[in-house]
Amino acid sequence: MPVRGLNDNALAASVAELNARLADMIALRLALKQAHWNVKGPNFIAIHELFDAVHSRLAGHEDILAERVQILGGVALGTVEAVSGAATVEAYPTDLVADRDHVAAISERMAALGGKVRKAIETASEAGDEGTMDIFVALSRALDKDLWFIESHLGG
Ligand SMILES: [Fe+2]
Repeated sequence: MPVRGLNDNALAASVAELNARLADMIALRLALKQAHWNVKGPNFIAIHELFDAVHSRLAGHEDILAERVQILGGVALGTVEAVSGAATVEAYPTDLVADRDHVAAISERMAALGGKVRKAIETASEAGDEGTMDIFVALSRALDKDLWFIESHLGG
């Protein structure tokens, strides 16, 4: 089912970028749950709840990425095997406990993904696929805001 106004190269570029960032989003969400479950410290309740709130917000964006792949005629790749092979998010340590350590580890990964999403905006723009570009712009803004919420726990 061809998408009107986009050539095959543009579709392939968008599908590849969407699936790459989908894998990263799933990996980041799993890291957020790992942090939500294991964090301890003086700011426990605030950080425990914030990690879960960010997890929920990112899930909404993830669904939009996957469904855009389908809209463009691709196959959304969200299995654990596909994600583990494709995700570029740095592996999340399983031995972290202190709230500051989880906040720093999650912040680093969100910032790195934020940079990749900004590149994805360019890729979609160059492909002339403004619908996909708009999805990445919204995701970029959401990541920036949640990074601010999380990172602010580290102080100034
Ligand atoms: Fe929970």
